[in-house]
Amino acid sequence: MSALHTPLCDLLGCRYPVVQTAMGYVAGASLVAATCNAGGFGFLAGVTIPAERVEAEILKVKELTSDKPFGLNFHMFQPNAQQLLDLAVKHGIRAVSYGRGPDAKTIRRLRDAGIVCMPTVGALKHAQKAIELGANVVTVQGGEGGGHTGSVPTTVLLPQVVDAVEVPVVAAGGFYDGRGLVAALAYGAQGIAMGTRFLMTSDSGVPEATLARYVATNDAAKIAISRVVDGMPQRMIPNEYLAMLQKASPFKRLRIALKLALGWKAQTGMTSGHALKILWQGMRGDDAGGLAQTVMAANAPMLLQRSMLAGHPDEGVMASGQVAALIGRLDSCEEVIAGIVRVATERLQVLGELARGESHG
Ligand SMILES: Cc1cc2nc3c(=O)[nH]c(=O)nc-3n(C[C@H](O)[C@H](O)[C@H](O)COP(=O)(O)O)c2cc1C
Repeated sequence: MSALHTPLCDLLGCRYPVVQTAMGYVAGASLVAATCNAGGFGFLAGVTIPAERVEAEILKVKELTSDKPFGLNFHMFQPNAQQLLDLAVKHGIRAVSYGRGPDAKTIRRLRDAGIVCMPTVGALKHAQKAIELGANVVTVQGGEGGGHTGSVPTTVLLPQVVDAVEVPVVAAGGFYDGRGLVAALAYGAQGIAMGTRFLMTSDSGVPEATLARYVATNDAAKIAISRVVDGMPQRMIPNEYLAMLQKASPFKRLRIALKLALGWKAQTGMTSGHALKILWQGMRGDDAGGLAQTVMAANAPMLLQRSMLAGHPDEGVMASGQVAALIGRLDSCEEVIAGIVRVATERLQVLGELARGESHG
């Protein structure tokens, strides 16, 4: 058994305590399977997989991995949340991840079916609330993490949560190598979860033009947080589109948002009634900025799709952790995980020598 084996590995049924998190339009069956086949544990991004394709993606992971355990991510506010929950139970999915969401009854149903409930949290009080509702593992994401994120860095949030809760904690936000895994274990976490590192692999399926933008980014300070896309703090690679949105007047943003809304409505088959409801909710804010924000939020997925699926990084947004600045090449998941395990094992050996008082040349 590997020296890196923690109880989390037994809970999730994986060889190494390395989790690939769900990423909208990125974490499909191929990436999840590549992660699991390399000894890690992958989550399918159930939120952005069209309802009619979710079951096929689940079956594809099973086929590509000869039935290795994997996870499914969902949000309670997505229209097909119930479908995902039913599929998780039906297919014996090992773990689910989520943000704010399921109530105690829903979590009880999942736990009774043997499913590990593993929400991602960005604050101690959210971790405590999630555990009170029934979560049996928490992933703690520090502010340097990709996508929607908080403002407290991993080095502060992680020990705070580890000290306050009884369930296994997985560390996320800023991890990419074996040193990070050892550091997380030293803090008392049972493993690491990574988004950006797995996005930046040859297995992610993200178009080349978009990946090239991630690889070219080498200034972590510029992978900053903005609320301009959907009103919530989101960390992204800077690009022309983001700069334009940030500079745009509320009326221009409203115009952009409405144009996006038409595209999204056509793509999702959203009814006019639902679209009007979104507009109505936005108008209650009584100003163009508020309305633009509401419509933008409803259509934010379009912006992620443009980069992650269509391969037009200049015309969409690129969610990313600051760690993208440290990653200069696209290895496979196999290489990423093997590299993490090798470096972590070496570091542990050096630390062991230190602990025994053996000198270093
Ligand atoms: C492109 C991208 C898309 C993401 N989409 C989601 C998502 O759909 N659901 C979710 O819970 N988290 C999402 N996240 C957050 C990740 O799951 C993860 O928590 C985060 O990337 C961890 O920080 P790291 O990037 O430093 O590894 C996304 C992150 C990225 C980079």
